[in-house]
Amino acid sequence: MNSLRKSFGLKMLLSWATFFVDLTVAGATVSMSVSSPSFSGPIQNVTVPVGREAILNCTVTDLGEYKVGWMKADDQTILSLDSRVITHNPRISVSHDEKLHTWQLRIRQLKDSDAGCYMCQINTNSMKKRLGCIDVQVPPNIDDSLTSGDITVQEGENVTLSCKAAGNPPPRIIWRREDGAKLMLRRNSYKVYKVDNIHGMQLILERAQRQQMGAYLCIASNDVPPAVSKRIMLGVEFPPSVRVGTDILGVLEDTEVEMACNIEAYPLPVTLWIKNQQEILVQR
Ligand SMILES: *[C@@H]1O[C@H](CO)[C@@H](O)[C@H](O)[C@H]1NC(C)=O
Ligand SMILES: *[C@@H]1O[C@H](CO)[C@@H](O)[C@H](O)[C@H]1NC(C)=O
Ligand SMILES: *[C@@H]1O[C@H](CO)[C@@H](O)[C@H](O)[C@H]1NC(C)=O
Repeated sequence: MNSLRKSFGLKMLLSWATFFVDLTVAGATVSMSVSSPSFSGPIQNVTVPVGREAILNCTVTDLGEYKVGWMKADDQTILSLDSRVITHNPRISVSHDEKLHTWQLRIRQLKDSDAGCYMCQINTNSMKKRLGCIDVQVPPNIDDSLTSGDITVQEGENVTLSCKAAGNPPPRIIWRREDGAKLMLRRNSYKVYKVDNIHGMQLILERAQRQQMGAYLCIASNDVPPAVSKRIMLGVEFPPSVRVGTDILGVLEDTEVEMACNIEAYPLPVTLWIKNQQEILVQR
């Protein structure tokens, strides 16, 4: 009696199981379309300055018993599952807003290396996923090793000043003189033109002239403040030239006389006043 009931019960269970399997196979597409989770729309990409917080919103409806996870797309690191953070990154958190059906991935104190795309996944049989990307803005930074230092050339030599800056978006570079005077540039080797500033990584001064001596600024800027600059001193060496106001001075006895001599040179010369080609009167 006892063993008979047992076998009857087992038979029932088996047929139920078969029935259940048949039903799910046959009705798979129908039941999926009723309650399967779906994304409400694309994940908005965000552009965030370094150091701030980036938030990606993943909105899922009809989640049911399924779970939402976040992954870093490039290396497939699992960051979170449901409302639990899996990765050992203290800057990462997730939050779930039940009313808005939103799963937020938050990354605080954003770093350069956080840039990239993130995947919001639902663990359905055929996995559903959406990508959202973070662009990390970085203020400009001048790379000293690839930027000119102070330089001295002979008058008439060509000189190229270089300035390299990193940042995101890529910084623009402009050159100007520190004293606000216009830049003197040469086009096609002979024609000189003057401009307030010039764009580009290189400032080329063809056949440098003494008037071009001075402090130059390379200024790097992008949309992320602050802009930065580097000061580069340009020295242009040229031999002394001497100009005397008057050749001959006539003066009365016992009066003071002043003689002026204008000297132009770089670097600064040693100047002497010599009497009758032998007696040094003043040396400076
Ligand atoms: C987000 O950025 C990625 C990669 O640049 C792009 O493929 C995708 O279309 C963007 N998504 C949206 C919603 O703009
Ligand atoms: C993400 O959701 C929050 C709160 O719902 C909202 O304030 C924010 O603007 C959303 N961000 C994007 C990029 O859609
Ligand atoms: C300076 O540059 C110009 C143009 O590139 C060139 O024609 C000239 O030979 C150069 N002069 C010197 C001294 O290198």
